[in-house]
Amino acid sequence: RKNLVIVGGGSTYTLGMIMSLIEEKEHFPLKKITFYDINATRQEIIAKAAKVLLKEHYPELESFSYTTDKATAFSDMDAAFVQIRTGGLAMRELDEQIPIQHGVIGQETCGAGGMAYGLRSIKDMIELVHDIRQYSRDAWILNYTNPAAIVGLALKREFPEDKRILNICDMPIAIMKSYADLLEKDVWELVPEYFGLNHFGWFSKILDKQGHDLTDDIKNKIINGDFLPTDKEIAHDESWIQTFRKARQMLVDFPEFLPNTYLQYYLYPDDLAKKESPDNTRARQVINGREKRVHELCDHIISQQTTHDINIEADIHGVYMIRAAASLVFNWKETFVVMVENNGIISNLPDDALVEVPALLTSHGPKAFSVGEIPTFYKGLIESQHAYEKLVVEAYYENSYNKLLQALTLNRTIVHAPKAKGILDDLIDTNKDYWPEL
Ligand code: G6P
Repeated sequence: RKNLVIVGGGSTYTLGMIMSLIEEKEHFPLKKITFYDINATRQEIIAKAAKVLLKEHYPELESFSYTTDKATAFSDMDAAFVQIRTGGLAMRELDEQIPIQHGVIGQETCGAGGMAYGLRSIKDMIELVHDIRQYSRDAWILNYTNPAAIVGLALKREFPEDKRILNICDMPIAIMKSYADLLEKDVWELVPEYFGLNHFGWFSKILDKQGHDLTDDIKNKIINGDFLPTDKEIAHDESWIQTFRKARQMLVDFPEFLPNTYLQYYLYPDDLAKKESPDNTRARQVINGREKRVHELCDHIISQQTTHDINIEADIHGVYMIRAAASLVFNWKETFVVMVENNGIISNLPDDALVEVPALLTSHGPKAFSVGEIPTFYKGLIESQHAYEKLVVEAYYENSYNKLLQALTLNRTIVHAPKAKGILDDLIDTNKDYWPEL
C-alpha cells in the first residue's frame, strides 16, 4: 500500500478526488494520504470534511493528515498529485477579464489569460518540484497544474533528467466519457488514438479493446445529434454544455478528426470573444458555483460528522489521475493520454514540442506510441501554438518583454500586434507580484 500527497489540498477539486480515491481503493490501495497547501485556512475546511469521509469509507487507511510544512508533507511518499493555482481564483478572474476588455477571448489556459497564468505557475512549480525532490527523490509527481502545456515545457527545461514527473490533463478522458455515453459503452473500454498539444489536440481514432473502429459511429452521432458533457462534475454546468456543443460545428467544418473542445477558442476566436463579458467570467461562475457548493458540502459534513446522507460518487478526472498513478507505481502498462517530449513521436513536428499522445504508463515512465506524420493543416496549427508556448517559457527565463509580445501576436486568439501589446501591458501591471521582472 502506498503513500499519496495531494498538493493543493485546499482546491475545490480535492473532495471529489477523495471520493474517487475511495471508489478506486482496490486499484490504488493507500496507507497514507497527506494534503499540502500554502493556504492553511483554505485547506482546513476541505481537510476536515475529507477526514470524516475517509474515516467512514476508507478504514484501511492508516493515516490522514494535512499540513503547510514541506518536510512533513514530502517525506515518505510514493506519489504526489499536484494541482496548484498561483494567485488563486482572484487572479484567474483578472486573466479572463483583461483580454475580454480588449475584445479577445479571456480563458484560463488559452490565449493571453493562459500566458499570464503560465508565467505565474512556472515559478511556483519549479520551486515545488525542488522541494519535493529534497525529501523524496523517487516519488512520482503527477502534475496537472495549468496551463499544463506551458508548465510542462518549463519543467522539462528545468528538470531534464527527472523521469518521474508526468504531465497529464483530464480533458481527453472527459471527452472520451461523452463518446462512451453516446455509444452506451464503458469509457474504460475505449482505446484512443490522439495527437496534438495540451488543450490543442484531436482524436484520429477511437477503437474498442477488440480493435473495432468506433470513430465513424461517434462522428455520425455528434453530427446528427448533440454532444454534451456527461461526467458528473460538468454535466449540469451551462458553460461546459455550451463548450461541448461547439464540438459539432468543429466536426462539420473539419471532419477529418474529432476535436478537443478547447480548439474552439483558436478556430472561432471572434465568435466566442463576442459572447464574453468581464462581469461574468468563468472564474466568477466557479467562485459563485463550484466553490460555494463544495464549501457548503464541507460545512455540512463537518457539522454532522458523518457522510451517511451524502452521495459518494467518483468523477472521471479523479479516477483518471488515480489509475494513471497506479499504472506508474504498479507497472500496469495501461494506455493513457499524457504529455511527453515529442522526439519523433509525431514525425513532422519539432522534437522539443511537448506533445499530448497515448502512452503506456510503466514503472519506467510513459512509453508513447508512434503517431507518424500529421496532415499540413494540423501541423501548421500545432507548430504555431508550440512556438507560442516555447516563447512564453523562454520569456520567463530571459525576462523578455519582446518574446511575450511575439508569443501573444502568434496566438490565434489575438493575432493583431497592437492588441497583443495593449493586453500584455495590462497583464504586466496586474501580475507585478508574480511575474519575473521584464
Ligand atoms: C478541464 C480542463 C482543465 C481546466 C478545467 C477548468 O478539466 O482539462 O485544464 O482547469 O477544465 O474547469 P472550470 O470548471 O474550473 O472552468
